[in-house]
Amino acid sequence: MRILVVGSGAREHCLAWKLSQSKEVKEVYCAPGNGGTSLFATNVEIAPTDIDNLLKFAQNKKIDLTVVGPEAPLSEGVVDEFLDKGLEIFGPRRELALLEASKVFAKNLMKKYNIPTADFEVFDDPCQAKKYVKEKKPPLVIKAEGLAQGKGVFVCRTIPEAEEAIRTIMIEKKFGNAGKRIIIEEYLEGEEASILIFADGKNFFPLVSSQDHKPVFDGDKGPNTGGMGAYSPAPLVNEEVFEKIIGQIFKPLIEGLNEEGKIYQGILYAGLMIKDNQPFVLEFNVRFGDPETQAILPKLKSDILEPILSSIEGDLDKVDLEWDERFCLCVVLTSGGYPGKYEKGKEIKGLENLENLEDIFIFHAGTKRKNNREFITAGGRVLNVVGLGDTIKEAQQRVYQAIQNIYFENMHYRKDIGNKALHFFLKGKMV
Ligand code: AMP
Ligand code: GLY
Repeated sequence: MRILVVGSGAREHCLAWKLSQSKEVKEVYCAPGNGGTSLFATNVEIAPTDIDNLLKFAQNKKIDLTVVGPEAPLSEGVVDEFLDKGLEIFGPRRELALLEASKVFAKNLMKKYNIPTADFEVFDDPCQAKKYVKEKKPPLVIKAEGLAQGKGVFVCRTIPEAEEAIRTIMIEKKFGNAGKRIIIEEYLEGEEASILIFADGKNFFPLVSSQDHKPVFDGDKGPNTGGMGAYSPAPLVNEEVFEKIIGQIFKPLIEGLNEEGKIYQGILYAGLMIKDNQPFVLEFNVRFGDPETQAILPKLKSDILEPILSSIEGDLDKVDLEWDERFCLCVVLTSGGYPGKYEKGKEIKGLENLENLEDIFIFHAGTKRKNNREFITAGGRVLNVVGLGDTIKEAQQRVYQAIQNIYFENMHYRKDIGNKALHFFLKGKMV
């Protein structure tokens, strides 16, 4: 088969890497890919949202399957366009990509199907919104409705902070049309985890749990980023929590949509807050998580093509996946300045030292290949260093030791990825 992977991050490097291991796969193309994917796949200069050119490319190259990484092309209808032309593609149609592209759509569906989530109100008028927050007790969470690259959510500890968030989103229009409507919701305490499922419209199959780390600095300090690291599994998701996630969240949603005649095909990702073994949905994403995917797929022993094709064909009930029981940990190396204005064009040194390290994987994000095997930085998140270990501690040591080999000017990374899981074990909460 010939596969096209759409996107340019470490998630897409990881997907392309895993797909290329399938014995069915002969060629992998990445649009546009990155320095890392250029080592084993063919990069094509097409932007993920340039749907016309993706379509032309897939037709000309006789691509058998397209796998979409980021949300933007999904919410712009790439799946509808490909399916209309008879091309195989993995992901939901535009009408269900709204689960991520419209937080109002997602919250209303959760309400309809009684899915545990924070209580909320929707506003399209900043005055009404400000009046509402004055009557509430903080903390409150204020969210722009649409896609804002993870930056449209404000956790407000005071009423003035909440008013400021309303101003930023609705009056200054920092996120453009994505902030035309906002959600004001109840603040939930607890700890976060992510669960992703393969879905075919009727059946679904969960992947192993994971936990992301969004803030840029250790101890969850500083501004949010696209993700600074992840590990899998998340010990917080014990058997009881897992059963609730399946029974109270995914089952009613997939079955409810099916009864409405809507087929959810692709990956569905629930970002969860878990308190006292009760999960609540913070958000849905309609794609693989980044960096969660980089901590999940190295654990997948089965061929990833199988659940992908079964999601498309509607026979996920026949699929079983085999997992490596070990822990997997991913640490993201970023450019100086990220998530603000960041540096580019820095020479990356030392990658060759990692090539033969056992159970260590390097997934590139913002890198460009200079020549042969030399790379320069070309984005905010630059590299992901991923490792497997029998314990979370072993995976952590392996990854942080590997990172000591890599250097680029002003490189930054969190030193505490995995600590939350370690604390969890120390508190003896694991069941
Ligand atoms: P979201 O994009 O909706 O997942 O929100 C981004 C981040 O904001 C989440 O990962 C949480 O850390 C935080 N957050 C969102 N909603 C809530 C909530 N209702 N209560 C507490 N924290 C929240
Ligand atoms: N890890 C957060 C996301 O993929 O949206």
